[in-house]
Amino acid sequence: MRNEDVRLKTSPEVARIRKSCRVVETILNDLSNYIIPGITTGKISEICEELMDANLAHPSAPGYMGYPEIICTSVNTVAVHGLPGSEILGNGDIITVDIILNIDGWHGDGACTYIAGEGDADTLRLYRAAQEATKAGIKASRAGGRIGDIGYAVFTTAARWGCSVIDELAGHGIGQAVHEDPVIMHKSESGVGLPIVPGMVFTVEPVLTLGSGKIKTLGDGWSVVSADGEKTAQFEHTVAIFSKSTEVLTRRELSFEFDPEF
Ligand code: MF3
Ligand code: CO
Repeated sequence: MRNEDVRLKTSPEVARIRKSCRVVETILNDLSNYIIPGITTGKISEICEELMDANLAHPSAPGYMGYPEIICTSVNTVAVHGLPGSEILGNGDIITVDIILNIDGWHGDGACTYIAGEGDADTLRLYRAAQEATKAGIKASRAGGRIGDIGYAVFTTAARWGCSVIDELAGHGIGQAVHEDPVIMHKSESGVGLPIVPGMVFTVEPVLTLGSGKIKTLGDGWSVVSADGEKTAQFEHTVAIFSKSTEVLTRRELSFEFDPEF
């Protein structure tokens, strides 16, 4: 892939994406109040739909590649693209809610993992590992670096927590399309891949698992599960690259400045 395939964003364009990402951030924060044992994944989807409506945002998932739902709710062994429905969360279940929405056609994308009630020790470790691996990937998302630095930071962090990264599931550029170049691999060597340059806006969204990292798709055509039945967790953020800083559009407090000489 060449750099020319990447649609770099101007600062007014980043502002449009930021607006959508702020809504994603708000909804993902609010959801922590609702995700408790007894709630269904369908109810979580309804809540998201109402919150999108209230914020004048539109879900981007319905119809995307034929996707039939508003959001993705991926429970326990489901890694991504779980379909909301009648499934009831029990104590200790771990669920990822993934939200893509747009305002006036500019998309924001984010996901967060929640534990309903109290998780066991392994579930808590997986949760923390996913959080730390995503943060490490975000820290490596800086002008002057290379795309490969991100996957290197992610998978080495995951390994320190005794978790694997599902390397078939990648992040992506985002803007007026849900998925754009560049592809962000979550397992990579450092110093390889495209240079990271100002104007890039992309997601960092590693899916971690306690198992091998192999996956398969269920008969519903969407739910991607761990092949070995181990639990999975994912945090996703949309980041914007500036010359001296990186802004995490879906979580302002994770933004950082850096010295490009360093
Ligand atoms: N964040 C996920 C992704 O980038 C969400 C996809 S949901 C879909 O692939 F409906 F758009 F497929
Ligand atoms: Co995404």
